[in-house]
Amino acid sequence: MPYRIGIDLGSLNIRICTSKKALVVDEPSVVAIDVSKQKVVAVGKEAKSMLGRTPEGLMAAHPLCDGVIASFKTTKQMLQIYFAQILGRLRLLKPDVVVNIPVGATSTEKKAVIDVIEAVGGKKAYLFKSPLAAALGAGIDISSSSGNMVIDVGGGKTEIAVISLGDIVSFSSVRYGGKKFDEAIADYVRKKHSLVIGEQTAEQVKIEIGSAMPLKKELKMEVSGSNTVSGLPESLILETQDVVNAIKPVINEIILSVKQVLQRTPPELSSDIMDRGMVIVGGAGNLRNFDELLTKVTGVPCQMAENPDGCTIAGIKLAVDHFDDFSSSFIWRSK
Ligand SMILES: Nc1ncnc2c1ncn2[C@@H]1O[C@H](COP(=O)(O)OP(=O)(O)OP(=O)(O)O)[C@@H](O)[C@H]1O
Ligand SMILES: [Mg+2]
Repeated sequence: MPYRIGIDLGSLNIRICTSKKALVVDEPSVVAIDVSKQKVVAVGKEAKSMLGRTPEGLMAAHPLCDGVIASFKTTKQMLQIYFAQILGRLRLLKPDVVVNIPVGATSTEKKAVIDVIEAVGGKKAYLFKSPLAAALGAGIDISSSSGNMVIDVGGGKTEIAVISLGDIVSFSSVRYGGKKFDEAIADYVRKKHSLVIGEQTAEQVKIEIGSAMPLKKELKMEVSGSNTVSGLPESLILETQDVVNAIKPVINEIILSVKQVLQRTPPELSSDIMDRGMVIVGGAGNLRNFDELLTKVTGVPCQMAENPDGCTIAGIKLAVDHFDDFSSSFIWRSK
């Protein structure tokens, strides 16, 4: 079997597989750069731990934003490091690369992904629409004539798609995902409790005590930050209800999009979706009670995939392994 690489190029996380291994890289897509030397000093977890803490002269940032390349140069630097790790002595070998692309990506955004793959030594980039990859990884037969609906709540965006016969019939993509939840929590804590908390603290709050709906038994967590007036360090206890209130506007935007996709779906496929239910994938889809809330507001049964964070790369791995079977679903640049 030819040596191929598969990449889930996420806004917050990058996951890479090869034809030999299911997961060779699973890291935050963060790069730390020494600004004066224009040199990468760290990538992945190490760079993420520097976010919001870098001294002057160092900068840590996400090279991708809302699912698309925000900085071509930094994305290239990050991929170069991972490609060197993966290929090692085989680096003269130019692998074909299957990489996901948001369903709503523009032609310029698609071109940037193809260019960056070629720039880091990929022979050819095969773009695979994210919802197709995520559905495959969630165990859905995407080639079936029955309608299936997936909701990928990622870090930078939520993509909702109805799939039938190997392609996407209706979709919506909104720039609301896990990062927006974190921002909403930080905003709420600043306004309601006059406490400024960092991005990573807000993310911890979301994961540890967050929920899409109120819980019978409140979870609690102590957070620290600085007082908006005095500027001095301060701590307070947050409860689940704080998170429910904080993220409500973001959740509502996602619900609105889910409803729009359901309204745009042809009746035959709607009835399939009613029978089979919608499947939630993506890291931010792990939010407590998100599936329950969606079921309640749409009336369509909704369930979470087994490993929501890993569905997209699992689907890409299937496409890497059964490349010819999926060739009609790929988008590539003909030369
Ligand atoms: N248990 C959890 N509860 C709530 N949110 C979670 C949990 N685990 C991870 N997340 C969130 O999932 C998000 C990352 O998801 P994922 O890895 O699917 O994003 P991504 O693929 O990089 O982004 P995108 O698909 O939007 O480009 C982060 O915002 C993270 O905080
Ligand atoms: Mg993703």
